[in-house]
Order: sequence, then C-alpha cells, then structure tokens
Amino acid sequence: SKGCKLVGSGSAVPTLKVSNDDLSKIVETSDEWISVRTGIRNRRVLSGKDSLTSLSVEAARKALEMAQVDPDDIDLVLMCTSTPEDLFGSAPQIQKALGCKRNPLAYDITAACSGFVLGLVSAACHIRGGDFKNVLVIGADALSRYVDWTDRGTCILFGDAAGAVLVQACNSEEDGLFGFDLHSDGDGQRHLNASIKENEMDHALGTNGSVLDFPPRRSNYSCIQMNGKEVFRFAVRCVPQSIESALERAGIPSSSIDWLLLHQANQRIIDAVSTRLEIPQERVISNLANYGNTSAASIPLALDEAVRGGKVKAGHTIAAAGFGAGLTWGSAILRW
Ligand code: ACO
Repeated sequence: SKGCKLVGSGSAVPTLKVSNDDLSKIVETSDEWISVRTGIRNRRVLSGKDSLTSLSVEAARKALEMAQVDPDDIDLVLMCTSTPEDLFGSAPQIQKALGCKRNPLAYDITAACSGFVLGLVSAACHIRGGDFKNVLVIGADALSRYVDWTDRGTCILFGDAAGAVLVQACNSEEDGLFGFDLHSDGDGQRHLNASIKENEMDHALGTNGSVLDFPPRRSNYSCIQMNGKEVFRFAVRCVPQSIESALERAGIPSSSIDWLLLHQANQRIIDAVSTRLEIPQERVISNLANYGNTSAASIPLALDEAVRGGKVKAGHTIAAAGFGAGLTWGSAILRW
C-alpha cells in the first residue's frame, strides 16, 4: 500500500503583537493572572492589510519551498479553518494565489482546534485511496474576529496565525503518517461554540411558519461562548486516551516518542496531558507563550518553528493531538 510523508512546513503570523499588558488596558485582567493560568504572554492579531488568506498563502509558499515542490505539482489543497474569509470555502482562493495551473481540488475542513489533525488524516486518505501525490494541508484561523473583546474570560486566550505542511505520496517503508484516532461529541458543543444567533434564526424560520416572516433577516454568528472549566476537563480527560489509542494502532510505545505536540490552548492542559502520558517536559513542544491559542494553526505553527529551530529532526516521531470546539478531538502519530 501507499505511504505518505511530511516533506515541508511553513507558517505565518500577523505583525500586530498584543501583550497581556495591552489587554489589561481593555479588560480587567493582569499579566500575572493570564500567564499563571494559561502560560500565554503575547498573541498576534490581524490588522491593516493582513488577511487569513494572505497568511495562509505565505505559510503554504514556505512549506512548498522547503519541500522543493512547484505549485503546479499540487494535487489537493486542504484548508483547515473555522473562520474562512468566504463562507463557501477559502481553499480555492489559496489555490488561486499560489498559481496552481492544473486547477487542483481545494476545499475547507471545519473542525476548530482539531482541524489540522483532521486535515492530515484526510490528506493520508486521499493519497492512499486515490491518485493524489502532493497534498497541501493548511491550518489557519482568525478567532480575533469572533472574540468578544469585552469578555476577559475568553479574549485573553486567542491569537491569529497560519501554518502549513506538504504531505507527499511515498512507498510504504517511508510512511510517516500512521496511527490515527478521531472523535466528536456534539453534546459538548454547549461548552464551546460560536453559533448562529438564535433570535435571528427564529425570525428566519418564522414563529409560526407564516409567510409574513419572509424574507428572513441576514444571519449572524455570536461571539465565542466558552465554559473554560468544562473545556479544560474535557481536554485533560480525552486527549491522553486518544493519544494512547493512536500509539497503540501505530504499534509504538509512548516511551519512543521524540516529541509531544499538542494543540496550544493552555500550558496547564499541556502539562496535565504530558504528565498523564509520562512524557518528560524536555520532549514537549510549546510555543503558546508567544501566540496564544491559534486554533487550527497551532500545531503546524509549533511544528514549523520546531523544525526550523532544529528541535524536530528527520526521522523523529511526533505524537500530535488537537482538541476543541465541536467538541472534536483527535491524534495522529507522525514521522518527520
Ligand atoms: N483576568 C482576571 N480575572 C479573570 C479573567 C481574566 N482574564 N478571566 C476570568 N477571571 C476571573 C473570573 O471572573 C473568576 O472570578 P470570580 O471567582 O470572582 O468569579 C475567576 O477569575 C476564576 O475564573 P474561572 O473562569 O473559573 O478561571 P479558571 O481557573 O477556570 O481559568 C481559563 C480560566 C484559563 C479559561 C481555564 O478555564 C482554561 O484555560 N480552560 C480551557 C479553555 C481552552 O483551552 N479553551 C480553548 C479550547 S480550544 C478551541 O476549540 C477554541
């Protein structure tokens, strides 16, 4: 059977840096509260001419450059995002900006902070089950557009970014993407969501289905609503189990993982999960102090930094896990 390997990574962040002290000027909070409870010190926020699409294109170009693959040789673009700049999908705009001449398929995957892991698994499925050779997987989000900047319980957590990897078909001995575990729990959606506004939905549907309620008003999404304690509990309960299942399927003991790379939501979650899996701190990747929770971008952003910084080297085994809204969570065992 066919294998697939990771052959390049790239990332991009907005230029505007917002520190905890900056936030303490708009909501009642402090650098101490935020850094002790989350580990976050700075985040980047879209401003001016930055767009999520432009960051994604920049990240993708860097990944292609590292992989030495021409945009014309891309067979598929998967854009993992919950904050697309076009409701109908943003991947085709990225495909266009990269100048892929053969009109390869490009589509979006919506799974919040688990989006990138899901994108990797989807890339592997496309490669193994089809004719796809070079699949670009992008994880990018701009949650700053959906945050209530007056809610200190959520606005301190998030940042904007984009990350990308190129997944390439190879022979089975070189396979670098194995051992998946993916889940969702729609019941937990009440703990974390940015739903369509209910009152406008009611209006759109009509209170009694009368034609007088037509045409419906333009709909709108609410800001991010979160029960932080429940999300914390969910992550610490589900993520270690998921990684253990993925490792079992890969036939790899946790002791032989070179790196644990979790979605960067909160340092306390990262610490709790690594403790439960008995993975020592020096084998845990963390960069959320600089970027906060960047949703679907966090794993490829941290991976790209670790690769370019010389931490992650060729042949290293990585246990990656995403978790978040949906609720969704999932793990993948990778070889760089
Ligand atoms: N600054 C100062 N005080 C604050 C702040 C703030 N930024 N935010 C909340 N507080 C106050 C609260 O009002 C509360 O005060 P009270 O006791 O007087 O009522 C007190 O601090 C404790 O608030 P809690 O919300 O109970 O604080 P908690 O210890 O749970 O920490 C946190 C909150 C950091 C959000 C934590 O619950 C967490 O990290 N949860 C996980 C969240 C997460 O990772 N979400 C993203 C998932 S990924 C995705 O898909 C988007």
